[in-house]
Amino acid sequence: MCGIIAYVGPRPCAQLLIDGLRKLEYRGYDSAGVAVHDGSSIVVRRAAGKLSTLQDLVDREPVAGTVGIGHTRWATHGPPSERNAHPHVAGRVAVVHNGIIENHVELKQRLEAQGRVFTSDTDTEIVAHLVDMAMARGLVLVEAVRDALRELRGAYAIAVLAKDDPETIVVAKYASPLVVAIADGAVLAASDVPAILAHTREVLFLEDGEMATLTRAGAKLETVAGEAVERAPTTIRWSLVQAERGGFKHFMLKEIHEQPRAIEDTLRGRVQLESGTCNADEIGISEQDANAVQRVVLLACGTSFHAAMYGRYLLEQLARVPAVVELASEFRYREPVIAKGDLVIAVSQSGETADTLAALKEAKRHGARVLAVVNVQGSAIARAADGVLYTHAGPEIGVASTKCFTAQLAAMALVAIHMGRARNALTAERATALLGELVKVPEKMRHALEQDASVQLIARDLVSSQNALFLGRGVSCPVALEGALKLKEISYVHAEGYAGGEMKHGPLALVDRTMPVVCLLPDDPSLEKMLSNVQEVRARDGRVLAVVNDAHTAASLAQWTITVPRTEPEFSPLITTIPLQLLSYHVADQRGTDVDQPRNLAKTVTVE
Ligand code: G6P
Repeated sequence: MCGIIAYVGPRPCAQLLIDGLRKLEYRGYDSAGVAVHDGSSIVVRRAAGKLSTLQDLVDREPVAGTVGIGHTRWATHGPPSERNAHPHVAGRVAVVHNGIIENHVELKQRLEAQGRVFTSDTDTEIVAHLVDMAMARGLVLVEAVRDALRELRGAYAIAVLAKDDPETIVVAKYASPLVVAIADGAVLAASDVPAILAHTREVLFLEDGEMATLTRAGAKLETVAGEAVERAPTTIRWSLVQAERGGFKHFMLKEIHEQPRAIEDTLRGRVQLESGTCNADEIGISEQDANAVQRVVLLACGTSFHAAMYGRYLLEQLARVPAVVELASEFRYREPVIAKGDLVIAVSQSGETADTLAALKEAKRHGARVLAVVNVQGSAIARAADGVLYTHAGPEIGVASTKCFTAQLAAMALVAIHMGRARNALTAERATALLGELVKVPEKMRHALEQDASVQLIARDLVSSQNALFLGRGVSCPVALEGALKLKEISYVHAEGYAGGEMKHGPLALVDRTMPVVCLLPDDPSLEKMLSNVQEVRARDGRVLAVVNDAHTAASLAQWTITVPRTEPEFSPLITTIPLQLLSYHVADQRGTDVDQPRNLAKTVTVE
């Protein structure tokens, strides 16, 4: 979703801001802009569409100055266009903003009644007017921003630049991420770490209700209420190289291929093979707490929801603890019944998804203990939870989640085994066998990745299909849902994932010779039942793509077969997911879509 960068320093900053925004492109956006103070006034350049259009504009009409703000916008209020692109200027003030100002209608009416003229459809422009009006009353920039913030309801991360104060940028946040960084005599702020990794890996995460005044002398942090804030910097583990494409055509393809390493990093230091245990500190839940849990409630959105579904299967199977999985967006607006003995697990790659964060807070309000499974260090969900289990997948740039998903699966497996041991539902012997197999999974994923070329050929046959079905049972059911989601996200092919047993209750009506049906058939107790489903598809002339462990499985039934290594049935999703990701990737690539930044989608969904 929207991205912010701000710079106060010694260097000319227009290009630097655009370069920073480029690192945020993956969040999804539809227009972009910069505002730079040239010493006497604020110069704005904005463009609808991709950053290359903004770049062309800045190349044609350069902007001088060493203090500036930049933004990539993902439309919420008003269509994507130049007039709605940020920065928004009112009088002497320019503002960039992520999030949504919920009381914008009443504020706009009031400001218009006071003679203020709006030039965009956005909620953001209100902030610029409020700050400008406060400065007109004689307040300095930081006080004017503070004054404006008191009026706002909703979510925001903002950066504000004023004509009268050429050396200062004020930033503030509530429920939208913002980091501040100090590097080589410059001070930066950004909505997301990759934007500033080229400058430093030391960052200060702002908390809700905090603001910072950035000058070349440093960053002064305080609360909106005016209390000083001391914050130690956090060192970001991710490197710039990890956030580059590294020779792959797309980030998504690179990230698919990074999965074995992502799983190795997620398991590292957390598994004690000899004793068949997991490191409780690393998992983020003590043995005592794990033992006391009455029920687990897993909350997530999108791809993370599928990982949470998998977590539910494993927690019930291996830890014998009742578990439910909920879409965070539904959970937060119901009146959920949460008891003290509930453990809530919030699963999120970004750690910033607004619905998941709100659901987590709702669960905490009811007294539940919350464990976060997140990929981004210092993210809001990580900070709001009682314990954190980080997936160490590294930065994921493709909007469609791949390596973060399988790292979440590995994290779920660790939590289930850890809880299974703590609750005596798993013997040391069985846990040792499971963990012994889990650490072999990355190698097996490498073998699965060797199927890339054959999947690419299969994608050629499927590239003109308008629809596809994905079927799986048990732990393969979330894989089927994820396979379908991936295909629709990046190739815009309509795809549905179903539990195999549900096929006769509707989707079978869709099956004819034009319908490809991807069937997950790893060797597990549900294989026979799944093979019956395959027969049913074949009887209606459907074309079957079988993902199997043994090339003979379904050989006479499937039009296409992809064979991947066998593992313990509990872990097969980590491997069977790979050909489905590759399939989506190649179908999308052959259809010529924007694989890394699919239309209308955003990587980090910070609005409801
Ligand atoms: C967006 C992304 C998905 C992601 C979902 C949940 O829709 O495009 O890839 O699965 O948000 O995000 P989270 O960061 O909470 O996992």
